[in-house]
Amino acid sequence: MLLAGCGSGDSAADLSVSGSYMPQPVSGSMAAGFLTVTNSGGTEDKLTSVTSDIGEVTAHVTVDSAMQEAEDLTVPAHGTLVFRSGGNHLMFEKLKRKPQQGEKVTVKLHFADSGTVTVGIPVKSATYNPKTGH
Ligand code: CU
Repeated sequence: MLLAGCGSGDSAADLSVSGSYMPQPVSGSMAAGFLTVTNSGGTEDKLTSVTSDIGEVTAHVTVDSAMQEAEDLTVPAHGTLVFRSGGNHLMFEKLKRKPQQGEKVTVKLHFADSGTVTVGIPVKSATYNPKTGH
């Protein structure tokens, strides 16, 4: 692949979100969410925070099968930032109500350069675990 393929060089980050889902939580106080952020632009961006009106949200990374709160997460130029079962995830805590299958949970993803991206995450069955994508 030619480096010149990225020739326009300075093009800004261009983010889109796909494949989002939340398995319906067993507990009413805590839930996990998953999604993929795709950057089709020529500049990396960083996910700096996540908010939701349903409760508190933090991005977690899984390190040696233990999860920890993430610092800023990079979305590489022409790359993806993936949250999936067993890896990075969005952690919902102090929920005001229990998300029910069939509804959508609205979250706002805050990026360093691209600003805020709002996503409606569909709530799936408790055992939902897609094999597709990524
Ligand atoms: Cu977690």
